[in-house]
Amino acid sequence: MEPSLPETREHDPLTSILPPEQMAAVAAALDAFAAEPGALLEVLHAVQQRLGHVPPAAVAVVARALNLSRAEVHGVLTFYPDFRQTPPGRHVVRLCRAEACQAVGARALEAHARRALGVDFHGTTTDGSVTLEAAYCLGNCACGPSLLIDETLHARVSPSRFDALMRQARGGEA
Ligand code: FES
Repeated sequence: MEPSLPETREHDPLTSILPPEQMAAVAAALDAFAAEPGALLEVLHAVQQRLGHVPPAAVAVVARALNLSRAEVHGVLTFYPDFRQTPPGRHVVRLCRAEACQAVGARALEAHARRALGVDFHGTTTDGSVTLEAAYCLGNCACGPSLLIDETLHARVSPSRFDALMRQARGGEA
């Protein structure tokens, strides 16, 4: 069944600012969470889970549906670094910046990763293949520096191993 949001959807200029796939994701998130306490965070998480990011144009739709101002929705969206407003790269690298990893070389790895990819944290390489994100402990403290590539954890990552992992990730693309 198609999600039911908002009531006058066909004639609503707000709904036309989002492509149909994005509107469907926003509508589904609102259907699932709008009635719950603290709905805004749940809705934004659900949209990001489905689309990989929260499109800026969704702010107005979510704000109206939750009876919030656009500034309130935008404020939450930009306050939490986990929310993305642009689509991520085809691979997401989450590099641990927490203390135990820093004690065994994560700072040098971080500097190398930024240089090698040509992006800062939250950035995506120009070819769209990799997005670099920070993590604050991946539960692998005894074997740092640690990072995740998509869902796969890698331990004791040196700069040269990082390069090899990136070659593998990018080379493994169709
Ligand atoms: S501090 Fe890096 S995995 Fe825990």
